Amino acid sequence: MKTEIFKINPFDIDEEIIKYCGEKLRNGSLVCFPTETVYGLGANAFNAEAVNNIFKAKGRPQDNPLIVHISSFDMINSVTQCTPSEKLLMDKLAERFWPGPLTMIAEKSPEIPENVTCGLKSVGVRYPSHKIAVKLIESSGVPVAAPSANISGKPSPTKASHVIEDLDGRVDIIIDGGDSSVGVESTVLDITSFPPCILRPGYVTQQDISEIILDVSEFVWKKDVEKPRSPGMKYKHYSPKATVTLFKGNEQDVSRRILNEINRAKQQGLKAGVLATDQTICYYIDNITLSLGNKGNLSEQATRLYDCLRKCDEMGLDVVFAEAVSENGVGDAIMNRLYRAAGGRLIDVRSN
Ligand code: TXA
Ligand code: MG
Repeated sequence: MKTEIFKINPFDIDEEIIKYCGEKLRNGSLVCFPTETVYGLGANAFNAEAVNNIFKAKGRPQDNPLIVHISSFDMINSVTQCTPSEKLLMDKLAERFWPGPLTMIAEKSPEIPENVTCGLKSVGVRYPSHKIAVKLIESSGVPVAAPSANISGKPSPTKASHVIEDLDGRVDIIIDGGDSSVGVESTVLDITSFPPCILRPGYVTQQDISEIILDVSEFVWKKDVEKPRSPGMKYKHYSPKATVTLFKGNEQDVSRRILNEINRAKQQGLKAGVLATDQTICYYIDNITLSLGNKGNLSEQATRLYDCLRKCDEMGLDVVFAEAVSENGVGDAIMNRLYRAAGGRLIDVRSN
């Protein structure tokens, strides 16, 4: 398949190109587009055949449901059907967090084909804030089913180049709208359970949500990876080809331990790299290092995370030793992704 690639400036959107892409999307094409979290691989959510093509293009397991994207508050009624109390809750959350990086899981409307939700009665719905995403959905005139625009299992794409690397020749259109500003996927909140439960941590935190609904639980991802409530959480994910190990503890202990691990890896003839921060790369002089950015700036680290994981592959690393980040705020989402990229290998250096 020949993929058309369009560059669009999000601050000066070319209406003609958006109109063209919107029409294609409506008529069954696969269109990759930027959102504030990560790039999405979109199809008309009402078109079961187009939705099926998403699974083929990504190599996505057939039991991992898709999020449906909307471009106005009204569109929610074509995607979900809620009880009056759920509707009230959704409206309150939407008022505070939409458009933005929050996905809500609610009962699905009959108009949404079964394969969007992989047979589940519930559907994930999100109103993104990225101007190109909103304009594209608007011009398509339909809700848009879109997972992250990567080959299944690989790190999510935060740059158009990541999407091109994974999906050129597998989708109809890729819109290059620059880098995603948030860098990790949306927070997934299940409002059908009581209390509502965060299934996937993201930029919107438990604390943010608890300002709107007092009682919100968080699925304990470190313990419950084996028995996930969100189908997508059971797969090894966000992974570079290299074997990743995460180290947690105070800065000196962690760096000392990582240096030991690097030496051991080198003795085995392995190419080793370190995932650190601007303030800690100095510990690893003469070794291959990647920085997530300023140690005190978790938003910056979120933005750079997936690009760093993809660079591990570009550099041909066999093993990556990563410093754990603070679990405050969006740090919880970063740790969740790192933990899964590491296939659960998290070593607490204090207890060793
Ligand atoms: O930020 C995002 O959410 C990005 C952008 C493109 O919007 N999308 C994204 O989609 O991350 P995806 O498909 O990579 O992840 C969707 C997650 C999966 O873990 C999936 O299992 C979960 O949401 N999910 C979707 N529908 C669900 C449902 N009905 N019940 C439980 N989990 C659901
Ligand atoms: Mg994904």
